[in-house]
This record gives sequence, structure tokens and C-alpha cells, in this order.
Amino acid sequence: MTDPAIVAALLSTMSPPPIRFGLVGFGAWGQFHAQAIAGNPAAQLTAIVAPSAASRAAAARAHPAARVFADHRQMLAEVKLDLVDIVTPSHTHRAIAMDALHAGCDLLLEKPIATTLEDGRAIVAQAARSGRRIAVGHELRLSSQWGGIKRVIERGTIGEPHYVLVELSRRPYRLGADGWRYDAARVGSWVLEEPIHFFDLARWYLADAGEPVELYARGKAREASRPGLFDNFSAMFSYANGAYAVVSQTLAAFEHHQTVKVAGSRGALWAGWSGAMDRTLEPTCFLRVFDGERIEEVPLANHSSGEVFELREEIARCVQMVRGEAAPVASGRDGLWSAGLCLLAEQSIREGRPVRIVEKEFVA
Ligand SMILES: NC(=O)c1ccc[n+]([C@@H]2O[C@H](COP(=O)([O-])OP(=O)(O)OC[C@H]3O[C@@H](n4cnc5c(N)ncnc54)[C@H](OP(=O)(O)O)[C@@H]3O)[C@@H](O)[C@H]2O)c1
Repeated sequence: MTDPAIVAALLSTMSPPPIRFGLVGFGAWGQFHAQAIAGNPAAQLTAIVAPSAASRAAAARAHPAARVFADHRQMLAEVKLDLVDIVTPSHTHRAIAMDALHAGCDLLLEKPIATTLEDGRAIVAQAARSGRRIAVGHELRLSSQWGGIKRVIERGTIGEPHYVLVELSRRPYRLGADGWRYDAARVGSWVLEEPIHFFDLARWYLADAGEPVELYARGKAREASRPGLFDNFSAMFSYANGAYAVVSQTLAAFEHHQTVKVAGSRGALWAGWSGAMDRTLEPTCFLRVFDGERIEEVPLANHSSGEVFELREEIARCVQMVRGEAAPVASGRDGLWSAGLCLLAEQSIREGRPVRIVEKEFVA
């Protein structure tokens, strides 16, 4: 007979300890991060940081096992962590990321990696110097739908991709704590908010074409008093082989409807996602593929496409990243590229002309 206590003790020595997450930011999106970490048995939500007393009280109520701090430096000084998850207003990313890297932690850093390329490069360079890993929050890559498109392309079903369209129509953005999202100095650029995901996807889908070489963008605000806050935005970026992508978004619409179309040398695909809100758990979604002869409906895992589902996958992938079992789904370099393309779009709108893309700008 085997003693169950001995078996339990043996088993406990075999399963690796949970990865200790310190979450900085407990706002609209940080609360979803907290739920995704707490719901993953291989992760532990060890600590949460939020400056306001109200957010700290909410964090303590929702996650009583976590220690709650008002400042990330205090958390880093007092708690041993494997990974710091940064979900704060975008202009704060650099300072928090640098402190976490200096404390020896890996990072999950929400998009945009930073509000300037200089800040983004500094983070990536510091991570390389200190031998730490960075995942940037481009979680759409992990969805059965948007990630499924990449797999269709990689299988060669549509041939060589020549054209990508990523389009979204939705209601206006949330204000953000303290109104940071509507403050040009703190948001950096509105293009860094949602279109950044679409730049990331389009560049990922067209990876075999190399890196883009030229970009042209147009944007128009609804309110003349906020000229940089584009409610309507479109950009096109192109590659040396003639392939190109169009990223287009309006915030002056209703509900939440996203479309991706990719056309290749042999076939094409079309994906759509619709919900009353961006974070609905019951969207309508599809992915249809044409291989040049037949149209196929690709089944989507439990219809679970949407950022809340993708976030759970992202947390699971970060656990693997910290354990050295998998690369981040979007690296610091990917984060630099997606932020850089957004900032070039902003420049193109300002100057009213196409801009050349200089690849060395995206190297830390
Ligand atoms: N990947 C995605 O799909 C996705 C989706 C949404 C947002 N995001 C990104 O996630 C980040 C946060 O967005 P959000 O919508 O959650 O914003 P939010 O609702 O305004 O929440 C921001 C949180 O950060 C806290 N905070 C502010 N300054 C801080 C500082 N210096 N140190 C520590 N905490 C600080 C705020 O604290 P208080 O509550 O105490 O004021 C709040 O809890 C942004 O970079 C955004 O672009 C990504």
C-alpha cells in the first residue's frame, strides 16, 4: 500500500510552483487581467498596485489573497515576483517597466509598449541587458479567429498574401482613469489606442513580405477642439514586393464590428466579429476561406473570439514564457514596430504626405 500523504508530497514536488504576478493598474482593463491571472492555476496574483484608495479597496475586495500597494516601487521592494504585468495609462509604461526590469522581473506590458519610440527602445534595450523577457499585449494574435487567419496563411491555402484589410467600427473610447485617454500628452497618440492592434495583425499576416517600407494615413476628429483625437482614421502601408495593408477605424459608430479580409495569389479569406460591446462574451463571429475553388467555414473554438478570451490565453502564454517553455506571442520588437507604425501614421496625417519607413528606427 502506498501512503497517500507520501504520494501527495511527491506530486507536489513534481508540479512547478505557480508564476508570481504583480499587476500594476487595476482600471477597466487591469481588472480583466486580474481575473485572468487569478483564474489560471499555474499563476498566482501575488500583488496589485493602484494609486487611488477606491481602486485599492476594489482590488482588495475582489482579490483578498493579493497584497495591495499604492506604488509599484513599494511592491517591487517588498514582494518577490516573477513577472510584472503593466496595465496603466500608456505614458507611465516606461518608468514602471524600467523599475520592474531593474528588480529582475519579466514583463507583460500592455500595448502600446510606450508612447514614443525612444521610450520603447529604452525598455527593449534594458530587457536585453538584464536578460529579461518581454511580452507586449497584442493578444489578438492568440484568438482562434485572428490567430486562425495566420494559420490559414501559413498553410498556403490562399497563396502569397497581397492585400490585408483590418477594419473596425465602434462607439467612442472610454475616458480612462483621470481622463488620460482623451489627453494628448498622456495617450501619446490616439492611433496608439486601438488601431495599434490592427497594425500588429496586418504586419504579422504579411510577415513573409519582410518589413513595410512606406505608410500613408488620414484622420479626422469629430470635434474641432480635439484635432489629434481622430474619430475616423485610415492608413495604408506597403511592402517592397507590392503587397499592402489597409487599417481603418471609426469611433463615430455604434456597437462593435470588426472585419479582416486577406487576398492572396490563389484565394482569399474573410473574418467578421460583432458584439453589442467590445468585451461581450457572446459575439457573432466567423472565418470564411476561399482556396481558389471552394469556400470553407473555419470552425472557431467555442465561438470564443474576443479580447477577454484572448487575455486568458495571453496569461497562460506568459506563464510558459517565464518558465522558458515558449516565446512571447508578441515580442518587444513587435511592440516597437506596432507603436512605430502608429506614430508614423500620426506624422503622415500631420504632414499630409506618405512617409518612408526606416527599419533601423525599430531596433533597440
Ligand atoms: N490589449 C488590449 O486589448 C487593451 C485594452 C484596453 C487597454 N489597454 C491598455 O492598457 C492600459 C490601461 O488601460 P485601461 O483602459 O485599463 O485604463 P484605466 O481604466 O484608466 O486604468 C488605469 C489604471 O492604472 C492606474 N494607474 C494610473 N497611473 C498609475 C501609476 N503611475 N502607477 C500605477 N498605477 C497607475 C489607475 O489607478 P487608479 O484606478 O487608482 O486611478 C488605474 O487603475 C493602457 O496602456 C491601454 O492602452 C490594452
